[in-house]
Amino acid sequence: MAREIQKVGVVGLGTMGAGIAQVCIQAGVETVGREVTPELGEAARGKIAHFLGRAVEKGRLSQEDGDAALARLKLTTELADLADCDLVVEAAFEDLTIKHELFRELSEVVGEDAILATNTSALSVTEIASAAAPPERVVGMHFFNPAPLMPLVEIVRAQQTDEAVVDAAYAFAQRLGKEPVRCNDTPGFIVNRILIPLLNDCVRVLDEAGVSPEDIDRAMRFGAGWPMGPCTLVDLVGLDVHVHASEALWQGLREPRMAPPARIVAMEKAGHLGRKSGRGFYEYQ
Ligand code: 3HC
Repeated sequence: MAREIQKVGVVGLGTMGAGIAQVCIQAGVETVGREVTPELGEAARGKIAHFLGRAVEKGRLSQEDGDAALARLKLTTELADLADCDLVVEAAFEDLTIKHELFRELSEVVGEDAILATNTSALSVTEIASAAAPPERVVGMHFFNPAPLMPLVEIVRAQQTDEAVVDAAYAFAQRLGKEPVRCNDTPGFIVNRILIPLLNDCVRVLDEAGVSPEDIDRAMRFGAGWPMGPCTLVDLVGLDVHVHASEALWQGLREPRMAPPARIVAMEKAGHLGRKSGRGFYEYQ
């Protein structure tokens, strides 16, 4: 297992999947992105083209390199088109049933020594791996939002993961120019285990201390050196993703700080999901 990675598949081209595909093509890796409809695939390609275009405008990337990167991205709606991928990164909805189905199908489609990775942020990699054959080829590769800008990738070792697969995923993340860190498959892995309760505390402080989202964001930027304030960050991550991750941590560890605050649960129910829906703590165009 764990052959050289020349071609990568990315399943699901939402915010994270599109970002991961962008990182791969910019690192010179042939990439096949799979979405459920051609329109969703094209929308992701459009977003990637936009960010590459911005980098060209700012002089951080040559037009030639930008064009070459974009040409490395192929789109498909068929999982069968991932047959010759050496690594597939799944970045679909955070739903165990969907992921089980994908990992079952992918196991049949890809070569026997291909690696299957999941970008899950809140589900158990061990549970996801249980649907794959063999489960030893499954590893967590948890990128951070926005994937093209955030250096960290958590390389998550499930109960079943072959250590050679962990090493191959780690080496590949390095090849992408990322800063990988190995960890076990525990709720929230490393960063979310710490960050999610902290963001929940920030949201609770809004009401407790009678502070506005603008002021709590300024407080954490100017008092704690955060690159962006907690409300801006929750809007970036997405209220739905944050609530799901909070609930998963709460289910797994039962620490009250992990339970999502009522305020963001209500926002999620109202469809105020942050940047992606145009409204969260802030409004976006
Ligand atoms: N994809 C690709 N390129 C992007 C991008 C994206 N999503 N977003 C922005 N860019 C590019 C743009 O071209 C932008 O330039 P432009 O605005 O002129 O077009 C360029 O990057 C740089 O943007 P900024 O000047 O706004 O960069 P900043 O210096 O402000 O840094 C940041 C942005 C890196 C996002 C910084 O604010 C930061 O580190 N924020 C914290 C983010 C964070 O904590 N993420 C983790 C969330 S938790 C998580 O993801 C886990 C999950 O499981 C929930």
